Amino acid sequence: MKIVNISGNSTINIGLLGLGTVGTGTMQIINANRADIAAKTGSELRITKALVRDLHKQRPHLDPAVELTLDPDPILTDPDIDIVVDVMGGLEPAGQYITTALEQGKHVVTANKDLMALHGRRLFAVAQQHNRNIYYEASVGGGIPLIRPIKHCLVANKIKSIMGIINGTTNYILTQMTIAKKDFQDALAEAQAKGFAEQDPSNDLEGRDAAYKLAILAGLAFQSIVKVEDISIESISDVSVRDIMYAEELGFVIKLLAIGEENRDGLKLRVHPTLVPKEHPLASVHNEFNALFLVGDSVGELMFYGRGAGSLPTASAVVADIIEAVRNINHEIENHAIETNYAAKPVVPLSQSQSRFYVRLKAKDQPGVFGSVATVFGDAHVSLDMILQTRREVNLAEIVLVTHEVVEHDFYQALERIKKIDSIRNISNVIRVLERS
Ligand SMILES: NC(=O)c1ccc[n+]([C@@H]2O[C@H](COP(=O)([O-])OP(=O)(O)OC[C@H]3O[C@@H](n4cnc5c(N)ncnc54)[C@H](OP(=O)(O)O)[C@@H]3O)[C@@H](O)[C@H]2O)c1
Repeated sequence: MKIVNISGNSTINIGLLGLGTVGTGTMQIINANRADIAAKTGSELRITKALVRDLHKQRPHLDPAVELTLDPDPILTDPDIDIVVDVMGGLEPAGQYITTALEQGKHVVTANKDLMALHGRRLFAVAQQHNRNIYYEASVGGGIPLIRPIKHCLVANKIKSIMGIINGTTNYILTQMTIAKKDFQDALAEAQAKGFAEQDPSNDLEGRDAAYKLAILAGLAFQSIVKVEDISIESISDVSVRDIMYAEELGFVIKLLAIGEENRDGLKLRVHPTLVPKEHPLASVHNEFNALFLVGDSVGELMFYGRGAGSLPTASAVVADIIEAVRNINHEIENHAIETNYAAKPVVPLSQSQSRFYVRLKAKDQPGVFGSVATVFGDAHVSLDMILQTRREVNLAEIVLVTHEVVEHDFYQALERIKKIDSIRNISNVIRVLERS
């Protein structure tokens, strides 16, 4: 309900679902910038209630005017609350609470990537049915503006590709392995100690977190319904310092990339460790920082860079969404979720995609080994771009190869044949390589 106060400003009441890292940041920004936000929007923002699990928890920065509640209903059904902000995380009960909020005529702001990636389509439909909207800038890239630029600023473009470092945990680990030559376990422990990795980091390490974010971004960029299951995912846990050192020697750094591309055949969607040429802008994105590199048919190459997580950076995106919702409320703009217009485009299986590959293998140190490997690759039309050979242990050589682009299916068939060559001890690792532009 919009109430106009004595200063001529209206008051917009906000209910928070969650008052943890991001919720507290949201409260801090609204309190610190209250007058500024009122000048920008013509409205004073008031957080009136916040849902929590524990009423007795110590909460630094708690605004005493905010009523804490263990029961969501006083927020979801309060006629004085205009905007409900989901910063509680998880699929349920957050999904049900957002549905109820929309049904009750409230606009919704959410930072919840899991929910938007898996159930966004259903929630957009509920929003449309009730003539409300869902704002979700904070769900991908924390403080980096990504959703609104793709949805609005770049809307004139046909977007050809998006390529991102959109998981801070894995980027921190890979950066430490590269710069300090820490092994994977040490780099992970350090990321956990610094708060960049959760105690159970499997969603980040396995690439699922990046896949959720890619599903959201690719849906918007290519105006499609992207399911998380459509995205091929590979973990970083097999990347070793040895791979990183060979990559450096060949002119690359290793990053976990989330990649979406559209061509005549459909969408190519994948998350995997990648050798990125050192001169590529994404190669200089270090530690917990995130970036999205995008190519549009009119704008050309564009990169967004910044902090992909953290209390205030993420809350910066949450509050920006709240302000957009306030402006739409004040100007009585019927701001439908355009996402409901999208239809699913075909997805090209990774096996039919073309990629370049880095291969590290161990073989007996004897004449003719390399020749037999090159012959198998040649027969499968896999041509080689770079080769390194070192002696590792007595009588054992390590061979590192980088291929030109090849259909993935052909490459893996050739690799199966190489494994069967007598002198080959093992294939130590295979990592995709980003084409130099
Ligand atoms: N942290 C980041 O840097 C970041 C970045 C981007 C996006 N996000 C997203 O933002 C959301 C919030 O993350 P966060 O890091 O702020 O989480 P958090 O620190 O764990 O805070 C969660 C808050 O929600 C409350 N809560 C959780 N489940 C609840 C339930 N069932 N009933 C009532 N209250 C409940 C908790 O209450 P108590 O305080 O009483 O425990 C807490 O206040 C998530 O969707 C996350 O993916 C976070």
